[in-house]
Amino acid sequence: MTQLDRGRITVRAPRFDHADAPEAWLDDDPGASRVVDALSLIFPEGERFFIRSVKHYASVFENDPELAARVRGFIGQEGRHGHEHDRWNKLLAARGYPVEAFLARYRELAYERIESATPAHLRLATTVALEHMTSTLAVVALTTPVLDGAHPSARTLLSWHAVEEIEHRAVAFDVLSKVDPRLRTRALGFAIGTAMLGVFWSQAFAMLTAHANDGRTQPRRRFARHVRATLPFLGQSVLEYFRRDFHPEDHDLSELVAEGLRRAGIAPRPSELEGSPHEPVDDRADDRTRGDVLDRAVG
Ligand SMILES: [Fe+2]
Ligand SMILES: [Fe+2]
Repeated sequence: MTQLDRGRITVRAPRFDHADAPEAWLDDDPGASRVVDALSLIFPEGERFFIRSVKHYASVFENDPELAARVRGFIGQEGRHGHEHDRWNKLLAARGYPVEAFLARYRELAYERIESATPAHLRLATTVALEHMTSTLAVVALTTPVLDGAHPSARTLLSWHAVEEIEHRAVAFDVLSKVDPRLRTRALGFAIGTAMLGVFWSQAFAMLTAHANDGRTQPRRRFARHVRATLPFLGQSVLEYFRRDFHPEDHDLSELVAEGLRRAGIAPRPSELEGSPHEPVDDRADDRTRGDVLDRAVG
């Protein structure tokens, strides 16, 4: 892990122009596009929940300047993700999907009822588990061909989000380690997080499918093949999470972050070392190194 990755989490504010993104933006496959759209629908409220869960323990990290700085980076990154996925979700609403009605039900059930009935240490443990899941999906997004056929603006949005999930993957974990380092707490959070993600992701997908005009209900075979190919990696990632000595930064993913930034068209530049937001540059991915990076990330 490099100093840059460990010590500083950069908040970037790239701009995405989705004006010409089609409804079937992933591989011209409406079903596959909806699988990812469903995840986008639940992201912003979920990310605001992550921020609340970590901020609740400000008294625990405020005397640790290094961790406090990383928490600020984490909050900044998650805030930007929520903002950009809200923008993407507005496109879905503009296409006639009942996004607002879905989000109102989701907010009420997940955050007014379940969150308010869950103790603070388990809210944080749930956040830690979901951060592990999102950083695992981020590695998949950056190391497999799953996004190769995506519309450029969506691919850039998801690559940027994936990079930052990897960058801040240990922040909530490090706060939980100070609050309650027991494996039992981490495991309970994983159970809650898995249930929440499974239920609300599938409900969002069902809503999108029910209101689609194209008649397709499932992704095509190519997407299903991608999903099957990642199952061993996902299984390995779950097993690692339950190791007593697990830490999210056990694998050095700094090369993958650098490669992902190039892929997202956000080349690292000197201003990044200062931690200042910057605009993306027109710099397309160099795919030559992706195979090497994949081998090391999942090996
Ligand atoms: Fe995020
Ligand atoms: Fe995150």
